Amino acid sequence: MRIPVIAGNWKLFKTIGESITLVDELKPLVANNHGVEIIVAPVFTALSRVYDAIEGSNILLAAQDCYWEEEGAFTGEVAPRQLKDAGCSYVIIGHSERRQYFGETDLTVNRKTGAAIAAGLNVIVCVGELLAERELDQTFSVIETQIKGGLSGLTAEDLTHVVIAYEPVWAIGTGKTATDAQAQEVHIFIRQLVARLFNPSVADAVRILYGGSVKPDNVKGLMARPDIDGALVGGASLKAESFAAIAGFNV
Ligand code: PGA
Repeated sequence: MRIPVIAGNWKLFKTIGESITLVDELKPLVANNHGVEIIVAPVFTALSRVYDAIEGSNILLAAQDCYWEEEGAFTGEVAPRQLKDAGCSYVIIGHSERRQYFGETDLTVNRKTGAAIAAGLNVIVCVGELLAERELDQTFSVIETQIKGGLSGLTAEDLTHVVIAYEPVWAIGTGKTATDAQAQEVHIFIRQLVARLFNPSVADAVRILYGGSVKPDNVKGLMARPDIDGALVGGASLKAESFAAIAGFNV
C-alpha cells in the first residue's frame, strides 16, 4: 500500500506573511484528508515560520532545493541539516527549472539526494523530458539516464526516503497536462527501472508522483492510474481552495 502524496511547489512566490496566510487557509480545508501526505514547499525564507504555522496539523514542510555539504565556505547555499532544523521533512531535488536555469545535473541531483537522506530528510527527486526529446521518441532513455544518475549509489534502505516525481517539462506551467495514459506509461517504466536497479519490493513501495499542470479537474483521472501515487503541483498550489481540492482527490 503506497500512501499518496500531494505536494505543493510554491516556487518563487509569496512573502512570509502570504505563506502563513496560505497555510492558515489550507489547514481547515485539508484537516479531514486522511490517508494522503500533504506537503507544501515555500521559499527558504518562509520555511521556519510556515513550520510554526503547520505544527500539529497534517501538513508537512519541504524545501525546494539544498546543497550537498553539511557546512563550510559555500556562500548562498543551504545544507540539509539546516532544512531539518527549520522543520522540513522533505526536500525537492532536481526540479526541471533548476536543471534548465541553475545548472543542475544528474550528478548534482545525486549528491544532493544522498546528503539530504543522510541528514534525515525525505527527497522528492524530479525527472522529466523536454518536448523536443518526447518528439524524438527519447522519453524513456532520458528518464532512464536521469533516474540512474540521480539515484546512483543509493541503497534499498535509502530508497524508502525517496519519492520520484515525473514532470514532463512541456507540461509544467503550460496548462498542457500529459494524458493519464501518457503519464501512466512513464510511471510504470520508472517502477520497472527501480525494480531492476534495486529490487521489486523497493519498486513496489516507491511513490511516483506526476507533475505538470495538475488541477482539481484532472487529478482524479491521473490518480486512478495504478502507478500514479500523487502529484507535484505548482500553479494550483498557490491558492488554498485549488490545492485542497487536489489533495481531496479521494473524497
Ligand atoms: P505546474 O508546476 O503545476 O504549475 O505545471 C508543476 C511543477 O513545476 O512542479
